[in-house]
Amino acid sequence: MGEPFYITTAIAYPNGKPHIGHAYEWIAADVIARFQRAQGRDVRFQTGTDEHGLKMAQKARELGVTPRQLCDEMTEHFRAMADALNMSYDVFQRTTDEAHYRASQAIWQAMADKGDLYLDRYEGWYSVRDEAFYDESELIAGDDGVKLSPQGTPVEWQVEESWFFRLSKYQKPLLDLYEAHPEFIQPESRRNEVIRFVEGGLRDLSVSRTSFDWGVPVPGSPNHVMYVWVDALTNYLTGLGYPDKTPELEKWWPADIHLIGKDIVRFHTVYWPAFLMSADLPLPKLVFGHGFLLHRGEKMSKSLGNVVDPLELAQTFGVDSLRYFLMREVSFGNDGSYSAEAIVTRCNAELANSFGNLAQRTLSMIFKNMGGALKNELPQNNADVELLGTVGGLISAMQERFAGYDFSGGLDHWMQAVFRCNAYVDEQAPWTLRKTDPARMEAVLMTLFRAVHDLAHAVRPVVPTAIDALLDQMGSAPDARTFAAIDNTGWVSDLIASGFTLSQPTGVFPRLELPADEVA
Ligand code: MSP
Repeated sequence: MGEPFYITTAIAYPNGKPHIGHAYEWIAADVIARFQRAQGRDVRFQTGTDEHGLKMAQKARELGVTPRQLCDEMTEHFRAMADALNMSYDVFQRTTDEAHYRASQAIWQAMADKGDLYLDRYEGWYSVRDEAFYDESELIAGDDGVKLSPQGTPVEWQVEESWFFRLSKYQKPLLDLYEAHPEFIQPESRRNEVIRFVEGGLRDLSVSRTSFDWGVPVPGSPNHVMYVWVDALTNYLTGLGYPDKTPELEKWWPADIHLIGKDIVRFHTVYWPAFLMSADLPLPKLVFGHGFLLHRGEKMSKSLGNVVDPLELAQTFGVDSLRYFLMREVSFGNDGSYSAEAIVTRCNAELANSFGNLAQRTLSMIFKNMGGALKNELPQNNADVELLGTVGGLISAMQERFAGYDFSGGLDHWMQAVFRCNAYVDEQAPWTLRKTDPARMEAVLMTLFRAVHDLAHAVRPVVPTAIDALLDQMGSAPDARTFAAIDNTGWVSDLIASGFTLSQPTGVFPRLELPADEVA
């Protein structure tokens, strides 16, 4: 097994059903997990739900159910989404699990032991929707002059007894962290925002509430529950068995990446490292704040009626198409937009017409013209060598981009390689060679077979189901589908030695149709 790689998503509030923004984050995390596995890393992938806090309690009251009932019901929708999107997660962590109470109380106790918690009175602004405290200076004016949070959500003035965390004490250590580890906050634009915020001074943070009880009880203060973000962030440790010194904790912590949206970067890059420093725990290596997904350029909201159920989208277009579209269309880190037309156009052009067609043409010509029998050590000419060299170079460039979390850039390299292969097919015209020079036709088709094999492995983290269906047809061993397969030059001879022949191929990337109700 390779070096460990621990990746987490944000844990979503299950106060309603999941939407496409949640799906986007979880798909991206799955692509990273699969990419790292394909590179030989030993991956642990955790996701889950964030079930405490006022927002959950209020929603439950509104619906006339208990918070627990709301969580139990809605969490199942998130779990179903994770499965339907083909997420290869290892742990689905719920913050209402008993083990999570223990972990949260342990980190609380560690912070208390450090002398970083004290009792005082909180007076200030709070946004229930963001579950966040804001300074007066951060607020913006809404249409009718009413005060709103910087995210545009309503805020209310709160006064209550509260435990405080000495966040101010960590200003310098945090700035030192950002300086010593510029890679800690990505992308760069978010890093600059956080540095500016911390340089502006940090106030101590209110970390408990007494006005409601839907949370983790504060050790030794029975009328207080923890501020939801204290327990929420601790989920990343709960799944590893913290506070016990388990082999999992030893092996996987600190996390290699917390993948989250841009709206919650402050919690992950200011509060979380400060809590961990206080509790004497190692800090995560990277926090990546991805952009927001918009619908036709607009924010999604129930009032605009543009909230789409990701499972419906996946059913209409196929999970692989949705995954490919989101990774290809949106420049990772920036906001991006989706629409049914854009999904159909992108997937038909690139998956069905370009790569799907290349694979289908190659396999069916080998099936028809070579009886499905593969050949090895055929004489190659310059065009063949050049094609394989170009494809290899573009795949390496793609992998470099993926390693740096630039998926659209990586897929652009992949498409260039596919275009090169299609141009080669047209130039070499194997259908003509069949009559004029059958030996040359075989060399061309086997060059293409190698290129398709490598391109399939390279894109497998993004579209795993379709690629597995293709690789099954190509005779690739299911347990050898890592990037090592791309570098293994002996695979064709091994396949021939095993007696493999190609059967009549079937396409794996169907052409998508725009549903009638989406046609403009
Ligand atoms: N519960 C907190 C996270 C706690 S992590 C210790 C939370 N939950 S959330 O349900 O509001 O959001 C979950 C994730 O989805 C966040 O990373 C958030 O940024 C992301 N997104 C929510 N809406 C989104 C879009 N429209 N587009 C992309 N991501 C979005 O925050």
